[in-house]
Amino acid sequence: MELIDGNHIAQEVLDELKGKVSAFECGKPCVTFVRVGDDPASISYVRKKEKTAASLGIDARLLVFPSTISENQLLEEIDRLNGDISVHGILVQAPLPPHINDVQIFNRVSPAKDVDGFNAVNLGKLCQEQPDAFRSCTPAGIIELIKRTGIETAGKRVVVLGRSLIVGKPIGMLLLNRSIPGNATVTFCHSRTHNLPALTREADLLIAAIGKPHFVTSDMIKPGCAVIDVGINRVPDSSRKSGYRLVGDVDFEQVAPKTSHITPVPGGVGPMTVAMLMANTVQAFEQSLKQP
Ligand code: GUN
Repeated sequence: MELIDGNHIAQEVLDELKGKVSAFECGKPCVTFVRVGDDPASISYVRKKEKTAASLGIDARLLVFPSTISENQLLEEIDRLNGDISVHGILVQAPLPPHINDVQIFNRVSPAKDVDGFNAVNLGKLCQEQPDAFRSCTPAGIIELIKRTGIETAGKRVVVLGRSLIVGKPIGMLLLNRSIPGNATVTFCHSRTHNLPALTREADLLIAAIGKPHFVTSDMIKPGCAVIDVGINRVPDSSRKSGYRLVGDVDFEQVAPKTSHITPVPGGVGPMTVAMLMANTVQAFEQSLKQP
């Protein structure tokens, strides 16, 4: 079994990006984060993204709004950022309060500044296999892990657990596409799937993105399968100062010995998400330079 070191691979990506950013002669990329409310996980994710951007020489700005902001006010703020030529990337941190339609917000972000890849235009471009599409950060990070670890996907059976807009659907599409890695036979499983373990046992590569702690157990795995665990679940742990610890969607202790490769939680997919946000911001900056 090979442990996939997401921290190490993310650092490789960041080092490459840092070199690229320092070589730009006409300005530097700028990403603006929009946070609504005080969700503790969102605060910590956005802080991590800001710090990483700063370490690469990317200009990171933060706008924070109260959870009482109306959908129209938030849409107006996004219009303002869309029209600000000094901003190359816009990221509205999810989850948003329940009175705000998140899809409406994601679709308002200019496709050219949509470093999250949640806009319908970029999701459509992903289906069309257009190279200028922004790929959402977690799926793009998984692709990079697979590529740099040398896991073969062409002709293989991939099972994706979960059908979210942020992870499940786009990672399935990316692995279906004719890119490298890609060309896989992809099956999506979800809460309404019948006899799910029989399907996961067929997988050569299993991607778990359902947000249920330790959902994947060893009886659900074919020996030699590669496993990517996207789950970041907080479970109570009184022995920790924070009162919680992070666990994945996979029961790592049980499953790891049966796999060819596996990502840990934390230290697997998580750091890659942040690194690929930086890659998307650099891509947005480069594409803005090519605009007429
Ligand atoms: N919330 C959890 N993951 C993400 C992400 O990748 N982007 C945004 N905007 N919000 C998230």
